[in-house]
Amino acid sequence: MAATERDAVIEVYRRLVGNGASPNPRAEHRLAVLTGEGPSALSAAPDYVREVFDELADTFEEKLVSHLSYRVPWDLYHAMQDVRPPSPEGGWRVLDLGSGTGLCGRIFKEYVRGISNGNGSDERVAGATTTTAMTTAAPRGGAMVGCDLSPKMVLKAQESEDYTEVRLQDVHEALRQEEAGSLDLVLSADTFIYVGQLEECFALVSQALTVGGLFAFSIEELMEEGKEEKVDEHYSAEDSTTAVFHQPSVAQEEDDVMVPEFRLESSGRYAQTHAYILRLLAAHKLELRATVEVQIRKESTVPISGRIYVTEKPGI
Ligand SMILES: C[S@@+](CC[C@H](N)C(=O)[O-])C[C@H]1O[C@@H](n2cnc3c(N)ncnc32)[C@H](O)[C@@H]1O
Repeated sequence: MAATERDAVIEVYRRLVGNGASPNPRAEHRLAVLTGEGPSALSAAPDYVREVFDELADTFEEKLVSHLSYRVPWDLYHAMQDVRPPSPEGGWRVLDLGSGTGLCGRIFKEYVRGISNGNGSDERVAGATTTTAMTTAAPRGGAMVGCDLSPKMVLKAQESEDYTEVRLQDVHEALRQEEAGSLDLVLSADTFIYVGQLEECFALVSQALTVGGLFAFSIEELMEEGKEEKVDEHYSAEDSTTAVFHQPSVAQEEDDVMVPEFRLESSGRYAQTHAYILRLLAAHKLELRATVEVQIRKESTVPISGRIYVTEKPGI
């Protein structure tokens, strides 16, 4: 986009945002994409997330799973099998950050309820025959707790009955509500693409996990170079303007080029570098147990690169 055209677009968004008398979360978000200005350059505003996902709730699974090859919850589950598969006893306390329609609750419920015959979940696509073992009610106080900012997503997850409780909460608030050392597993499937800056979240996860507890999550990976330009926002084309680099206080220096640790992309989502995640894990005393490069989903037939992590809060 030419500079003058870009300035004109910015001006339109500035006018839409105006003096804030009538909030326009989408315009604020696009303005952050274009200018790198405001808090949305670091993390998506709650109102923005609510608006986008309330709108998507009814079609999310069909759109993402069936049409855009979304498989992060299943990829997380498979990565967990190598680190710690579910046991017959179950009884884990699990917190699912950004639970959406409840895919993780469905796939990870064995950790809470236990397995009866040792089979694992293998629901690769929506509607496919599942090999999930029959489960029973959660034993020994195990719980599957979900949280999400979108009321419609919260309702969807509640309807699924795979959760003990689903709260209308921001990820940080949900983590703060958990007692220190109480969680066996924290899950975050494709939610950090809206959280952006992850310092506070990792600190809270580390505090809430029990010793030996696991934190399994995904990111859209910010490549240092050669990453495909993204052309759509929230799975439908809206704007293809180039994102402004957000330069966090700590950045890596590679070949004399300052590389941001995370960035709000032109897609309207945030991507983080692998180096950023490794730095946060070290800072919050979480140990890496597994990491896998994955294709998060497709956008206009282009595969979007991401990464799955399984990490552990080790004993002292
Ligand atoms: C791409 S969806 C993924 C949903 C689900 N984890 C899955 O894999 O199917 C991201 C979800 O995170 C929620 N979300 C985004 N930012 C959040 C935040 N700061 N706190 C809580 N939920 C958030 C959105 O409302 C949305 O339901």
